[in-house]
Amino acid sequence: PAAPPALLLLLLHGGGVRASSPPHHASLPCRDDLSLRSAPINLPRGVHMLDLSRNQVQNLTEETLAYHTGFHHLNLHANKIHFIQPGLFKDMTDLRVLDLSRNHLNVFALSKTNIGPLTAVESLDLSSNGLYTGMSEYFLADSPALETVSLRGNSITKIAQDTFSGSSSLTNINLHNNVILEIEDGAFDSLAHLTELDLSKNSIACITDFNLCNLKVLNLSKNSLELFQSTRSAELYRLVSLDLSENKMSHFPLLPLNNILKYLDISRNYLQSVEVTGSPETKNRVFLNHLRYLDMSYNQLKSLPESFFYCMGSLEVLNVSNNCISSFSITNKRLLQTVKIINLSYNSLQTLTFGENTLPSLEELFLQGNDLAVLDRKIFQRLPSINHLQLQQNNLQICTSDHQDPPDCVSFTSISNLHFLNLSENSLWTLPANAFANTPLRLLDLSLNLGLDMDKCALSGLENSLVHLLLRENNISNLNTDLSSLRSLKHVDLSTNQLTSLPTWNKESSIESLNLQNNNLVTLDYSTILALEHSLKTLYMGSNPLSCCRNLGFLHMVQHSAVVVPDIETVTCIHEEYSEPVNIEKVTQEMCHGLAVQNYIIVVVLTLLLGMVALGLLLKCFQSRKRKHNRSFSA
Ligand SMILES: *[C@@H]1O[C@H](CO)[C@@H](O)[C@H](O)[C@H]1NC(C)=O
Ligand SMILES: *[C@@H]1O[C@H](CO)[C@@H](O)[C@H](O)[C@H]1NC(C)=O
Ligand SMILES: *[C@@H]1O[C@H](CO)[C@@H](O)[C@H](O)[C@H]1NC(C)=O
Ligand SMILES: *[C@@H]1O[C@H](CO)[C@@H](O)[C@H](O)[C@H]1NC(C)=O
Ligand SMILES: *[C@@H]1O[C@H](CO)[C@@H](O)[C@H](O)[C@H]1NC(C)=O
Ligand SMILES: *[C@@H]1O[C@H](CO)[C@@H](O)[C@H](O)[C@H]1NC(C)=O
Repeated sequence: PAAPPALLLLLLHGGGVRASSPPHHASLPCRDDLSLRSAPINLPRGVHMLDLSRNQVQNLTEETLAYHTGFHHLNLHANKIHFIQPGLFKDMTDLRVLDLSRNHLNVFALSKTNIGPLTAVESLDLSSNGLYTGMSEYFLADSPALETVSLRGNSITKIAQDTFSGSSSLTNINLHNNVILEIEDGAFDSLAHLTELDLSKNSIACITDFNLCNLKVLNLSKNSLELFQSTRSAELYRLVSLDLSENKMSHFPLLPLNNILKYLDISRNYLQSVEVTGSPETKNRVFLNHLRYLDMSYNQLKSLPESFFYCMGSLEVLNVSNNCISSFSITNKRLLQTVKIINLSYNSLQTLTFGENTLPSLEELFLQGNDLAVLDRKIFQRLPSINHLQLQQNNLQICTSDHQDPPDCVSFTSISNLHFLNLSENSLWTLPANAFANTPLRLLDLSLNLGLDMDKCALSGLENSLVHLLLRENNISNLNTDLSSLRSLKHVDLSTNQLTSLPTWNKESSIESLNLQNNNLVTLDYSTILALEHSLKTLYMGSNPLSCCRNLGFLHMVQHSAVVVPDIETVTCIHEEYSEPVNIEKVTQEMCHGLAVQNYIIVVVLTLLLGMVALGLLLKCFQSRKRKHNRSFSA
């Protein structure tokens, strides 16, 4: 179902070169059933851009275009064009952009007719036209100015030697989503200016003798490549970006010897080692001195020898996640000096070694989902720039700052730039005092460490830095760690524990969001509620056995302050007079009045009684004095 057909005319007076003069738009009345077969005959003179996309044009002729030849830009996307008048574009000497995508040009191609010269066209879109092998030639045969062509989403199976021979100015060819099985030798040789070639989503099985020295960007993602080999020439290849992801390569590609490659993606292949293809003459190492980004994630690598990085002096990002690497070690100071991000997540790492003063630029290290249990205890202190460390889903224990350590533990003190630390799901059983002293953590995730026993001073040292603290699903019943001194703390997640009381906070606290979902809270300490009220913005409180009438301060906060309770639907409380828990929003002062009225009556009765007693005494006293007085007077 196509969008409703529409017509837009864009008038660009005076050539429209100056971006400062606003273009003049004119549109014809648009009815929903407007389905044009041609441009209106009253098309104004001087129209440079015609957008006839999503209409019903079938025959593209001079008549269809109202005999205008002055177009710069013609958009005929999504019509039903199956015929183009040969020579139609010959006299359109200003036509630079021609969009013929989503039409039926395969029908035209069956007539084996050329559309004639595309005199000035620089950009041609022929995508989604049902074209198959040999058909694109009828459109490209005489297109000397053509720089960019898109043939996406057709059914081309072969790129022949002469496919692009009529369009020697091409710089950019898009062949994404065809069924290309074969590329004839020399098919791109005539294209001296070709810089970008997208062959992604095809069926290419093998590239041998890759020799396109001027190409800068090559995308071969989503093919069936088993082999990628460049010619063994000493010539400089200008290739900067090579995407080989989602193929079937079991060997590292053989890259040009003399290269300036910066971006290499070999993710989702069948790499089992980083060795280049078998034959002995290809064993010589190719230097990848310009490489910045290397993605080899989702392969079957079992190891990654240090020597692999000898010739990668500029690497910044290394992604080898989702492999089967069991050991990773960098001991040579001169290796990977520029690397900023290493992603080793989801491997089977048991050993990890960094030598003294290695990896000086490493900022982010992803180690989640491995089998790390024993590490050199000072390993992370060796990484001077590390600020982001993901260690969740391992089996680590944390050292204390004194010397009574668990035998296999790792230390997190004095890591001078570390801001982010995820230690969730590590089966941590204790968190000793001062565990993060002199480490300026902003975020600490300790969730999913069931039964974690935190020392009272576990978080001391983080007073001025910690902003996010996550302690989800730890089965904590009593949080005796002091959170009130963490002056920067803003976001706290304590959900799914067994807490029976709120952690204490005072007026100095700046908590903005607090998650207390799914705990055992019955009453909430009123002074803590008051302390929270001035900074709190978001509160999750669902699934707690709250008492309705013993939390009137909390109730007031929920109902009258600006605090947002996103899970308010599930925040219920228990009231003696109701069999079901009551939603917190429905609780009123009156519901808890029973108790108050009783108290009130008792107080009133007592006051009355006392008053009466006092009055009685007073009267008695007065009378006796009066009598005394009288007596003395008479005496
Ligand atoms: C398109 O042109 C052909 C022949 O040139 C003609 O037979 C056909 O009727 C035309 N179709 C339309 C919709 O004008
Ligand atoms: C290569 O093509 C794929 C599929 O079309 C696309 O997802 C990917 O982003 C492209 N690679 C690069 C480096 O642009
Ligand atoms: C590999 O890691 C890099 C950097 O962290 C990331 O940009 C990229 O998306 C990852 N690759 C895959 C396949 O997820
Ligand atoms: C690490 O790699 C995995 C997959 O390879 C990716 O999903 C994840 O986003 C990467 N991590 C980062 C932070 O880039
Ligand atoms: C820490 O890791 C866990 C498990 O992978 C994840 O669910 C959680 O979102 C991470 N924490 C943060 C703050 O990113
Ligand atoms: C959670 O803690 C309670 C005691 O507070 C204990 O009885 C229970 O077994 C713990 N649950 C798990 C799954 O460890």
